[in-house]
Amino acid sequence: MKITLEVKPFADLEVDALTTYVFEDAEPVQGRIAEIDKLSGGLLGRLSKSGELTGKPLEITLLHAPTGLKSARLLLIGAGKREQFNPAMQRKVAGVALRNLKSRNVHKVAFLVRENDATEQLAQALAEGALTADFETDKYKTDKKKDKFVDEFVIVGYGDAEKAAGEKGLNRGRIIGEAQNFARDLVNEPSNKLTPAILADKAEAMAKEAGLAVEILDEKKIAELKMGALLSVAQGSVEPPRVIVLTYTPANAKPGGPVVGLVGKAVTFDTGGISIKPADGMEKMKYDMAGGATMIGIMRALAALKPNVKVICVVPATENMPGGKAQKPGDIQTAMSGKTIEVLNTDAEGRLILADGVHYAKQLGATHLVDAATLTGAIVVALANVNVGVFGTDQDWLDKLLASAKATGEKMWQMPMDDEYREFIKGSFADIQNVGSGKGGGAITGAMFIREFAGDTPWIHLDIAGTAWNDDAKPWLAKGPTGVAVRTLVHLVTSL
Ligand code: BES
Ligand code: ZN
Ligand code: ZN
Repeated sequence: MKITLEVKPFADLEVDALTTYVFEDAEPVQGRIAEIDKLSGGLLGRLSKSGELTGKPLEITLLHAPTGLKSARLLLIGAGKREQFNPAMQRKVAGVALRNLKSRNVHKVAFLVRENDATEQLAQALAEGALTADFETDKYKTDKKKDKFVDEFVIVGYGDAEKAAGEKGLNRGRIIGEAQNFARDLVNEPSNKLTPAILADKAEAMAKEAGLAVEILDEKKIAELKMGALLSVAQGSVEPPRVIVLTYTPANAKPGGPVVGLVGKAVTFDTGGISIKPADGMEKMKYDMAGGATMIGIMRALAALKPNVKVICVVPATENMPGGKAQKPGDIQTAMSGKTIEVLNTDAEGRLILADGVHYAKQLGATHLVDAATLTGAIVVALANVNVGVFGTDQDWLDKLLASAKATGEKMWQMPMDDEYREFIKGSFADIQNVGSGKGGGAITGAMFIREFAGDTPWIHLDIAGTAWNDDAKPWLAKGPTGVAVRTLVHLVTSL
């Protein structure tokens, strides 16, 4: 889909659909909506009076052959109260418009921004909203609906004075939206089409195209580095593990400035291992590499946005399988850091691979860490599919992340990390154990475990188990992978 910005009078646009948004107000027909109303001979005013056009969030009003416009259709989307027209709502409005029109075989769409709204920020949100709404999970369907596509999304309503700002926002939005979809595409792949080696190949190809440095560690190199925690998970599978390392180095980095380490869990399929999961719903565990995909997508965006900060991305990738060589409950493993781990449950494998991933990112020079992982079912119990669970010990670093989450409209909620929880993972026969000793707080225990390997380095853990996958389609987003945390982390890195 091509997204462009054009400075043109909206009434003259020869498009399949002109779309804009209406605020929930005592008088929804005002400003540009009033202009359209005038051209249409008062039709919108009559709709508003009859209660059909109210501006309620995501209300849809579609008019065919609207009088006074050259467009074949006029689509009005409710945007709620004007004060609450934030980037999250802006993306939804663009997304609802796009998915609605796409389902009607409409190919060329113009999106009109309202009076006084022509900003850089809005153009970014519209581009992100349209691109993420356009994403489908039909890659493996042979009867793809061939006519259901929008190939041109034109943003209008910007004057000559605002054009440059609008284009800047549009470009940034395109980069971020595409990065999010890149991550979603990876998550959508089933495990037979995305082994650790294939994921590494895809990351390498992306890195070469984007101009990032890339190193793929194979099973031999991983063993040489003594990544015992990662290897313990991988040993149950015939598919060899990989560690994907992508590095972005700015042209003129500040000496002594921060080096961000992004570490993502990439379990390309999680059966649970010997502590095997129930069959019901297990197919969803192809998404257990979403943390890794998120970080790879972020690197793709950073390569294009060129922030002035060095970023190292480390993605440990493996399957978690119950093969004949699989690790068993009670096994004791030595992580790359030298810490010994008693594996009480082989299904708590994410924290094992992150232990080595986080340690390696530090060794490569990261001064500030963020990890993302579909780590626990417990975070789904705590926060459902609404908020990402945020864990960490350095409040300055956490506050920066939470500010970025707020700015980009991704919901994230900080969870406690009191010292008391440390007791839960004290080992009986090794330094630490990989699950808590039966006292609840499962998501926190997982975070406490990873903290052991972050040490004193400022570190944040994002548990995206509840938010990386949409169980039901939304009017602005397909069912399946969401690409959550891409926007927040791109914002965090680019605003350092
Ligand atoms: N990949 C899962 C986390 C998960 C579980 C995501 C359910 C979405 C839904 C992770 O590897 C896992 O299995 N965690 C265990 C940990 C437990 C054994 C301490 C869990 O949450 O059940
Ligand atoms: Zn697991
Ligand atoms: Zn897992």
